[in-house]
Amino acid sequence: MKAAFFQTAPVFGDIKKNVERVSDLVSSRTADLIVLPELFNTGYQFISKAEVRELSEEVPKGYTTQRLAEISAEKSVYIAAGVAERDGDSLYNSAILTGPEGFIGVYRKTHLFYEEKLWFTPGDTGFSVWKTGIGAIGLMICFDWFFPESARTLALKGAEIIAHPSNLVLPYCPDAMITRCLENRVFAVTANRTGHEERGGKERLTFIGTSQITSCRGKVLLRASAAREEFGEAEVDLNEARDKNLNTFNNLFEDRREAFYKS
Ligand code: ACM
Repeated sequence: MKAAFFQTAPVFGDIKKNVERVSDLVSSRTADLIVLPELFNTGYQFISKAEVRELSEEVPKGYTTQRLAEISAEKSVYIAAGVAERDGDSLYNSAILTGPEGFIGVYRKTHLFYEEKLWFTPGDTGFSVWKTGIGAIGLMICFDWFFPESARTLALKGAEIIAHPSNLVLPYCPDAMITRCLENRVFAVTANRTGHEERGGKERLTFIGTSQITSCRGKVLLRASAAREEFGEAEVDLNEARDKNLNTFNNLFEDRREAFYKS
């Protein structure tokens, strides 16, 4: 199957425009799974909770989820995308998964980064894996990569590929994903955004681009440029992620010594 990222530079606050660009792009592509950045529909640098609330949407009732579900069904493609989610009084930095069958599920970011802590409630969904027509897809969001438990939990729950919507500003993640994939034998698609934001007198944020598709053997199959919007895709065989044997003596999961991992 073909896995892809769409590295975009969202226009802050213009949800319709950001979503419709995806719609245009998807119509001309044949990937089976397309991963979009974290908060791809809103932009990232909020300046107040009221602003987040205004740009957030209910999942799956809201415009973005409905529209992505529609595109997924029309084009028979799975889409993973970051959105600002509103649930009652709580706001979450979330990622949704849609497919030919419509809305599949939502993940709420577990490890909030920097000022996200001012706006969002820490996620309460835990890490989920969905068995789909193209394979077992797990979701994590950006800074979750810094906590190896995120990818490990997804892999232990059966993920064969991790869809990883991101808004990276630190430089380490693309290289770190090589290890995350190697140690768990999972594929990953890190879809980062590019461009800058500097809103409300706050510091200028430069997003690092370099979206990446990483194989379950730790090979970088594709890495995007830092500063351009880019669509990138790679052929992946998810069967490879099901076999956790490293050699005839070692199995990545069976060799774990959980008794010694407690602090
Ligand atoms: C991040 O989690 N957006 C760095």
